[in-house]
Amino acid sequence: MTPSQPIDRAAARAFLDETTNTLRHAAVAGVLSVADRMGLLSELGQGLSGTASEIASALGVDERFTTEVLRTLAAAGVIDHDTSGYSMTPEHAAVLGDDTSPYSLAGWLDMLPAAVGLTGELAEGGATGAGVPFDAYGPAMVRGIDRANRPSMTILLTRRWLPTMPDVVDRLDAGVRAVDVGCGSGAAVHAMAAAYPNSTIVGIDISETSIERARASCDLPNAHFEIASISSLATGEPADLITAFDVLHDIPDPTAALKDMRAGLADGGVVLAMEPRIERDDSGALDDVAVLNLAISTLHCLPQAIATGGTGVGAAWGADGLTRAVRDAGFAECEELPIENPFSAFYRISG
Ligand SMILES: C[S@@+](CC[C@H](N)C(=O)[O-])C[C@H]1O[C@@H](n2cnc3c(N)ncnc32)[C@H](O)[C@@H]1O
Repeated sequence: MTPSQPIDRAAARAFLDETTNTLRHAAVAGVLSVADRMGLLSELGQGLSGTASEIASALGVDERFTTEVLRTLAAAGVIDHDTSGYSMTPEHAAVLGDDTSPYSLAGWLDMLPAAVGLTGELAEGGATGAGVPFDAYGPAMVRGIDRANRPSMTILLTRRWLPTMPDVVDRLDAGVRAVDVGCGSGAAVHAMAAAYPNSTIVGIDISETSIERARASCDLPNAHFEIASISSLATGEPADLITAFDVLHDIPDPTAALKDMRAGLADGGVVLAMEPRIERDDSGALDDVAVLNLAISTLHCLPQAIATGGTGVGAAWGADGLTRAVRDAGFAECEELPIENPFSAFYRISG
Protein backbone atom coordinates (compact mmCIF):
# COMPACT_ATOMS: atom_id res chain seq x y z
CA MET A 1 0.00 0.00 0.00
CA THR A 2 1.31 3.44 -0.89
CA PRO A 3 0.33 6.12 1.58
CA SER A 4 -1.42 9.03 -0.15
CA GLN A 5 0.91 11.45 1.60
CA PRO A 6 4.28 11.10 3.32
CA ILE A 7 4.04 10.11 6.93
CA ASP A 8 6.17 10.98 9.93
CA ARG A 9 7.66 7.51 10.46
CA ALA A 10 8.61 8.14 14.08
CA ALA A 11 5.10 9.29 14.90
CA ALA A 12 3.63 6.26 13.11
CA ARG A 13 6.00 3.96 15.01
CA ALA A 14 5.08 5.57 18.32
CA PHE A 15 1.36 5.20 17.58
CA LEU A 16 1.91 1.60 16.48
CA ASP A 17 3.48 0.94 19.90
CA GLU A 18 0.62 2.69 21.65
CA THR A 19 -1.98 0.73 19.70
CA THR A 20 -0.15 -2.53 20.40
CA ASN A 21 -0.41 -1.65 24.07
CA THR A 22 -4.15 -0.95 23.72
CA LEU A 23 -4.66 -4.31 21.99
CA ARG A 24 -2.51 -6.07 24.58
CA HIS A 25 -4.75 -4.76 27.37
CA ALA A 26 -7.90 -5.68 25.43
CA ALA A 27 -6.62 -9.22 24.78
CA VAL A 28 -5.57 -9.67 28.42
CA ALA A 29 -9.05 -8.44 29.46
CA GLY A 30 -10.48 -11.19 27.25
CA VAL A 31 -8.32 -13.83 28.98
CA LEU A 32 -9.35 -12.39 32.36
CA SER A 33 -13.01 -12.87 31.38
CA VAL A 34 -12.32 -16.50 30.47
CA ALA A 35 -10.42 -17.07 33.73
CA ASP A 36 -13.30 -15.46 35.62
CA ARG A 37 -15.89 -17.67 33.91
CA MET A 38 -13.76 -20.78 34.62
CA GLY A 39 -13.81 -19.92 38.34
CA LEU A 40 -10.03 -19.57 38.23
CA LEU A 41 -9.88 -15.98 39.49
CA SER A 42 -12.12 -16.58 42.48
CA GLU A 43 -10.22 -19.78 43.41
CA LEU A 44 -6.85 -18.01 43.15
CA GLY A 45 -8.42 -15.13 45.09
CA GLN A 46 -9.37 -17.53 47.86
CA GLY A 47 -5.80 -18.76 48.12
CA LEU A 48 -5.53 -21.62 45.61
CA SER A 49 -1.92 -21.83 44.42
CA GLY A 50 0.38 -24.38 42.81
CA THR A 51 1.58 -25.64 39.49
CA ALA A 52 -0.67 -25.42 36.43
CA SER A 53 -1.28 -29.14 36.80
CA GLU A 54 -2.30 -28.82 40.46
CA ILE A 55 -4.55 -25.83 39.75
CA ALA A 56 -6.21 -27.51 36.74
CA SER A 57 -6.79 -30.63 38.78
CA ALA A 58 -8.29 -28.64 41.70
CA LEU A 59 -10.70 -26.97 39.26
CA GLY A 60 -11.37 -30.16 37.27
CA VAL A 61 -10.42 -28.47 33.99
CA ASP A 62 -8.05 -29.14 31.09
CA GLU A 63 -4.39 -28.74 32.07
CA ARG A 64 -3.03 -27.54 28.73
CA PHE A 65 -5.56 -24.72 28.36
CA THR A 66 -5.25 -23.74 32.02
CA THR A 67 -1.46 -23.53 31.60
CA GLU A 68 -1.89 -21.03 28.77
CA VAL A 69 -4.34 -18.94 30.79
CA LEU A 70 -2.04 -18.92 33.84
CA ARG A 71 1.00 -18.05 31.71
CA THR A 72 -0.89 -15.14 30.14
CA LEU A 73 -2.05 -13.83 33.50
CA ALA A 74 1.46 -14.14 34.96
CA ALA A 75 3.02 -12.40 31.95
CA ALA A 76 0.49 -9.59 32.31
CA GLY A 77 1.31 -9.16 36.01
CA VAL A 78 -2.11 -10.26 37.23
CA ILE A 79 -0.77 -13.25 39.16
CA ASP A 80 2.66 -14.28 40.48
CA HIS A 81 4.74 -17.18 39.19
CA ASP A 82 7.80 -18.72 40.86
CA THR A 83 9.33 -22.16 41.30
CA SER A 84 6.43 -23.34 43.47
CA GLY A 85 3.84 -22.31 40.92
CA TYR A 86 1.17 -19.67 40.43
CA SER A 87 -0.55 -17.55 43.09
CA MET A 88 -2.48 -14.31 43.51
CA THR A 89 -1.66 -11.64 46.08
CA PRO A 90 -4.44 -10.58 48.48
CA GLU A 91 -4.34 -7.10 46.91
CA HIS A 92 -4.94 -8.47 43.41
CA ALA A 93 -7.59 -10.81 44.85
CA ALA A 94 -9.43 -7.76 46.22
CA VAL A 95 -9.70 -6.38 42.67
CA LEU A 96 -10.31 -9.53 40.60
CA GLY A 97 -10.87 -12.52 42.86
CA ASP A 98 -13.47 -11.44 45.42
CA ASP A 99 -16.92 -10.22 44.34
CA THR A 100 -17.65 -8.87 47.83
CA SER A 101 -14.64 -6.54 47.90
CA PRO A 102 -15.26 -2.80 47.50
CA TYR A 103 -12.22 -2.81 45.14
CA SER A 104 -13.76 -5.47 42.88
CA LEU A 105 -13.72 -4.81 39.13
CA ALA A 106 -14.92 -8.35 38.31
CA GLY A 107 -18.23 -7.05 36.94
CA TRP A 108 -16.33 -5.59 33.98
CA LEU A 109 -15.28 -9.13 33.07
CA ASP A 110 -18.95 -9.87 32.36
CA MET A 111 -19.87 -6.48 30.90
CA LEU A 112 -17.04 -6.16 28.38
CA PRO A 113 -17.51 -9.48 26.56
CA ALA A 114 -21.31 -9.03 26.65
CA ALA A 115 -20.84 -5.75 24.77
CA VAL A 116 -17.87 -6.62 22.54
CA GLY A 117 -19.66 -9.81 21.45
CA LEU A 118 -22.25 -7.55 19.79
CA THR A 119 -19.80 -5.75 17.49
CA GLY A 120 -21.89 -6.54 14.40
CA GLU A 121 -25.16 -5.46 16.00
CA LEU A 122 -23.50 -2.30 17.34
CA ALA A 123 -22.06 -1.34 13.96
CA GLU A 124 -25.42 -1.91 12.28
CA GLY A 125 -27.47 -0.30 15.07
CA GLY A 126 -25.06 2.62 15.08
CA ALA A 127 -25.12 3.03 11.32
CA THR A 128 -28.92 2.94 11.09
CA GLY A 129 -29.49 4.92 14.27
CA ALA A 130 -31.62 2.10 15.66
CA GLY A 131 -29.27 1.40 18.58
CA VAL A 132 -29.16 -2.01 20.32
CA PRO A 133 -31.85 -2.96 22.86
CA PHE A 134 -30.79 -3.55 26.48
CA ASP A 135 -32.04 -7.16 26.41
CA ALA A 136 -29.87 -7.96 23.37
CA TYR A 137 -26.79 -7.84 25.64
CA GLY A 138 -28.19 -10.86 27.51
CA PRO A 139 -28.04 -11.92 31.16
CA ALA A 140 -24.24 -11.51 31.33
CA MET A 141 -24.63 -7.74 31.07
CA VAL A 142 -27.22 -7.65 33.86
CA ARG A 143 -25.01 -9.89 35.99
CA GLY A 144 -21.96 -7.74 35.22
CA ILE A 145 -23.70 -4.49 36.18
CA ASP A 146 -24.79 -6.15 39.40
CA ARG A 147 -21.32 -7.51 40.17
CA ALA A 148 -19.80 -4.12 39.40
CA ASN A 149 -22.10 -2.15 41.70
CA ARG A 150 -23.26 -4.57 44.44
CA PRO A 151 -20.11 -4.43 46.64
CA SER A 152 -20.29 -0.63 46.88
CA MET A 153 -24.05 -0.69 47.43
CA THR A 154 -23.67 -3.28 50.18
CA ILE A 155 -20.69 -1.72 51.94
CA LEU A 156 -20.76 2.00 51.20
CA LEU A 157 -24.29 3.18 50.37
CA THR A 158 -25.72 3.30 53.89
CA ARG A 159 -22.39 3.75 55.75
CA ARG A 160 -20.67 6.41 53.64
CA TRP A 161 -22.82 7.80 50.85
CA LEU A 162 -26.22 8.48 52.45
CA PRO A 163 -24.63 9.88 55.66
CA THR A 164 -23.40 12.84 53.56
CA MET A 165 -27.10 13.84 53.71
CA PRO A 166 -27.89 13.61 57.47
CA ASP A 167 -31.42 15.05 57.03
CA VAL A 168 -32.25 12.28 54.55
CA VAL A 169 -30.87 9.62 56.90
CA ASP A 170 -33.05 11.03 59.74
CA ARG A 171 -36.12 10.66 57.54
CA LEU A 172 -35.17 7.14 56.47
CA ASP A 173 -34.62 6.19 60.14
CA ALA A 174 -38.03 7.59 61.08
CA GLY A 175 -39.76 5.76 58.24
CA VAL A 176 -40.53 7.09 54.76
CA ARG A 177 -41.03 5.80 51.22
CA ALA A 178 -38.00 5.68 48.97
CA VAL A 179 -37.85 4.59 45.34
CA ASP A 180 -34.71 3.35 43.57
CA VAL A 181 -35.26 3.88 39.84
CA GLY A 182 -33.47 1.59 37.39
CA CYS A 183 -32.78 -0.65 40.40
CA GLY A 184 -31.19 -3.40 38.30
CA SER A 185 -30.62 -6.52 40.43
CA GLY A 186 -31.71 -4.69 43.58
CA ALA A 187 -28.49 -4.29 45.60
CA ALA A 188 -29.24 -0.69 46.63
CA VAL A 189 -32.83 -1.52 47.62
CA HIS A 190 -31.56 -4.45 49.68
CA ALA A 191 -28.97 -2.31 51.47
CA MET A 192 -31.42 0.52 52.26
CA ALA A 193 -34.22 -1.84 53.33
CA ALA A 194 -31.82 -3.60 55.73
CA ALA A 195 -30.44 -0.36 57.19
CA TYR A 196 -33.79 1.47 57.51
CA PRO A 197 -36.40 -1.10 58.61
CA ASN A 198 -39.00 1.64 59.30
CA SER A 199 -38.90 2.78 55.68
CA THR A 200 -40.43 1.18 52.62
CA ILE A 201 -37.97 0.86 49.75
CA VAL A 202 -39.31 0.22 46.25
CA GLY A 203 -37.10 -0.74 43.32
CA ILE A 204 -38.42 -0.17 39.81
CA ASP A 205 -36.86 -1.20 36.51
CA ILE A 206 -38.08 -1.82 32.97
CA SER A 207 -35.86 -4.92 32.66
CA GLU A 208 -37.69 -8.14 33.57
CA THR A 209 -34.40 -10.04 33.97
CA SER A 210 -33.21 -7.44 36.48
CA ILE A 211 -36.40 -7.49 38.54
CA GLU A 212 -36.35 -11.29 38.62
CA ARG A 213 -32.77 -11.22 39.95
CA ALA A 214 -33.72 -8.50 42.46
CA ARG A 215 -36.68 -10.47 43.81
CA ALA A 216 -34.59 -13.64 44.04
CA SER A 217 -31.81 -11.95 46.02
CA CYS A 218 -33.85 -9.89 48.50
CA ASP A 219 -36.78 -11.04 50.63
CA LEU A 220 -36.83 -8.27 53.25
CA PRO A 221 -40.45 -7.36 54.15
CA ASN A 222 -39.92 -3.62 53.54
CA ALA A 223 -38.33 -4.11 50.09
CA HIS A 224 -40.52 -4.27 46.99
CA PHE A 225 -39.72 -4.57 43.30
CA GLU A 226 -41.84 -3.64 40.31
CA ILE A 227 -41.37 -3.80 36.57
CA ALA A 228 -42.08 -0.14 35.89
CA SER A 229 -40.64 2.84 34.08
CA ILE A 230 -39.49 6.12 35.59
CA SER A 231 -42.46 7.71 33.81
CA SER A 232 -44.74 5.91 36.32
CA LEU A 233 -43.34 8.08 39.16
CA ALA A 234 -45.37 11.12 38.12
CA THR A 235 -48.66 9.36 38.90
CA GLY A 236 -47.50 7.06 41.73
CA GLU A 237 -47.37 7.48 45.53
CA PRO A 238 -44.94 10.32 46.39
CA ALA A 239 -41.48 9.37 47.63
CA ASP A 240 -39.27 11.24 50.12
CA LEU A 241 -36.15 9.90 48.46
CA ILE A 242 -35.64 8.86 44.85
CA THR A 243 -32.30 7.27 44.03
CA ALA A 244 -30.86 6.68 40.55
CA PHE A 245 -27.56 4.80 40.50
CA ASP A 246 -25.95 4.77 37.04
CA VAL A 247 -29.30 5.30 35.40
CA LEU A 248 -29.85 8.87 34.17
CA HIS A 249 -27.30 8.66 31.35
CA ASP A 250 -28.93 5.39 30.24
CA ILE A 251 -32.25 7.17 29.59
CA PRO A 252 -32.81 8.55 26.06
CA ASP A 253 -34.15 11.81 27.53
CA PRO A 254 -32.78 12.38 31.06
CA THR A 255 -34.51 15.77 31.36
CA ALA A 256 -37.92 14.13 30.90
CA ALA A 257 -36.92 11.44 33.43
CA LEU A 258 -35.86 14.09 35.93
CA LYS A 259 -39.19 15.89 35.42
CA ASP A 260 -40.99 12.61 36.23
CA MET A 261 -38.78 12.19 39.31
CA ARG A 262 -39.56 15.74 40.44
CA ALA A 263 -43.28 15.06 40.01
CA GLY A 264 -42.87 11.87 42.06
CA LEU A 265 -41.21 13.54 45.06
CA ALA A 266 -43.06 14.30 48.29
CA ASP A 267 -42.73 17.87 49.67
CA GLY A 268 -39.09 18.42 50.66
CA GLY A 269 -38.07 15.21 48.94
CA VAL A 270 -34.60 14.62 47.54
CA VAL A 271 -33.11 12.83 44.53
CA LEU A 272 -29.73 11.13 44.89
CA ALA A 273 -28.09 10.47 41.52
CA MET A 274 -24.86 8.54 40.91
CA GLU A 275 -23.29 9.17 37.51
CA PRO A 276 -19.97 8.18 35.89
CA ARG A 277 -17.09 10.43 36.92
CA ILE A 278 -15.70 12.27 33.90
CA GLU A 279 -12.48 14.16 34.59
CA ARG A 280 -9.50 15.44 32.66
CA ASP A 281 -5.80 15.11 33.38
CA ASP A 282 -3.34 18.02 33.53
CA SER A 283 -3.04 18.13 29.72
CA GLY A 284 -6.80 18.54 29.35
CA ALA A 285 -7.32 15.01 27.97
CA LEU A 286 -9.95 12.70 29.46
CA ASP A 287 -8.33 10.61 32.21
CA ASP A 288 -8.21 6.78 32.13
CA VAL A 289 -11.46 6.30 34.07
CA ALA A 290 -13.25 8.77 31.80
CA VAL A 291 -11.98 6.97 28.66
CA LEU A 292 -13.17 3.65 30.11
CA ASN A 293 -16.59 5.19 30.85
CA LEU A 294 -16.72 6.70 27.37
CA ALA A 295 -15.86 3.36 25.75
CA ILE A 296 -18.52 1.43 27.66
CA SER A 297 -20.92 4.24 26.81
CA THR A 298 -20.22 3.67 23.10
CA LEU A 299 -20.59 -0.08 23.47
CA HIS A 300 -23.63 -0.14 25.74
CA CYS A 301 -25.06 2.95 27.47
CA LEU A 302 -25.74 5.02 24.36
CA PRO A 303 -26.91 2.27 21.95
CA GLN A 304 -29.36 0.82 24.48
CA ALA A 305 -30.72 4.32 25.20
CA ILE A 306 -31.13 5.10 21.50
CA ALA A 307 -32.95 1.78 21.01
CA THR A 308 -35.78 3.02 23.23
CA GLY A 309 -36.13 6.19 21.16
CA GLY A 310 -34.41 9.56 21.36
CA THR A 311 -30.83 10.67 20.95
CA GLY A 312 -29.39 9.72 24.35
CA VAL A 313 -26.59 11.51 26.18
CA GLY A 314 -24.03 8.76 26.85
CA ALA A 315 -22.08 8.07 30.03
CA ALA A 316 -19.61 10.88 29.40
CA TRP A 317 -22.13 13.73 29.61
CA GLY A 318 -20.40 14.73 32.85
CA ALA A 319 -21.38 17.17 35.57
CA ASP A 320 -22.20 19.92 33.06
CA GLY A 321 -24.69 17.76 31.14
CA LEU A 322 -26.33 16.53 34.31
CA THR A 323 -26.58 20.03 35.81
CA ARG A 324 -28.21 21.34 32.64
CA ALA A 325 -30.78 18.52 32.60
CA VAL A 326 -31.52 19.05 36.30
CA ARG A 327 -32.14 22.76 35.74
CA ASP A 328 -34.24 22.13 32.60
CA ALA A 329 -36.35 19.68 34.62
CA GLY A 330 -37.24 22.48 37.03
CA PHE A 331 -35.17 21.56 40.08
CA ALA A 332 -33.73 24.47 42.05
CA GLU A 333 -30.67 22.78 43.53
CA CYS A 334 -27.99 20.32 42.42
CA GLU A 335 -25.03 19.79 44.70
CA GLU A 336 -22.16 17.35 44.19
CA LEU A 337 -21.78 15.39 47.42
CA PRO A 338 -18.36 15.05 49.13
CA ILE A 339 -17.98 11.34 48.31
CA GLU A 340 -14.59 10.10 47.13
CA ASN A 341 -15.03 7.50 44.42
CA PRO A 342 -12.78 6.89 41.41
CA PHE A 343 -15.61 5.83 39.09
CA SER A 344 -18.67 7.80 40.11
CA ALA A 345 -19.84 11.25 41.19
CA PHE A 346 -22.89 11.76 43.44
CA TYR A 347 -25.45 14.56 43.29
CA ARG A 348 -28.12 15.74 45.72
CA ILE A 349 -30.94 17.20 43.65
CA SER A 350 -33.93 19.02 45.17
CA GLY A 351 -36.38 21.92 45.00
C1 LIG B 1 -26.56 0.67 34.35
S1 LIG B 1 -27.97 -0.09 34.97
C2 LIG B 1 -27.86 0.31 36.71
C3 LIG B 1 -28.56 -0.69 37.58
C4 LIG B 1 -28.48 -0.44 39.08
N1 LIG B 1 -28.97 0.86 39.45
C5 LIG B 1 -27.07 -0.62 39.60
O1 LIG B 1 -26.50 0.32 40.12
O2 LIG B 1 -26.56 -1.73 39.51
C6 LIG B 1 -29.29 0.95 34.40
C7 LIG B 1 -30.67 0.36 34.71
O3 LIG B 1 -31.67 1.32 34.34
C8 LIG B 1 -32.78 0.61 33.85
N2 LIG B 1 -33.61 1.54 33.07
C9 LIG B 1 -33.33 2.12 31.87
N3 LIG B 1 -34.33 2.92 31.49
C10 LIG B 1 -35.27 2.87 32.47
C11 LIG B 1 -36.55 3.50 32.66
N4 LIG B 1 -37.05 4.34 31.76
N5 LIG B 1 -37.25 3.21 33.77
C12 LIG B 1 -36.73 2.36 34.71
N6 LIG B 1 -35.55 1.73 34.58
C13 LIG B 1 -34.82 1.98 33.47
C14 LIG B 1 -32.13 -0.52 33.03
O4 LIG B 1 -33.02 -1.57 32.79
C15 LIG B 1 -30.96 -0.91 33.94
O5 LIG B 1 -31.31 -1.93 34.84
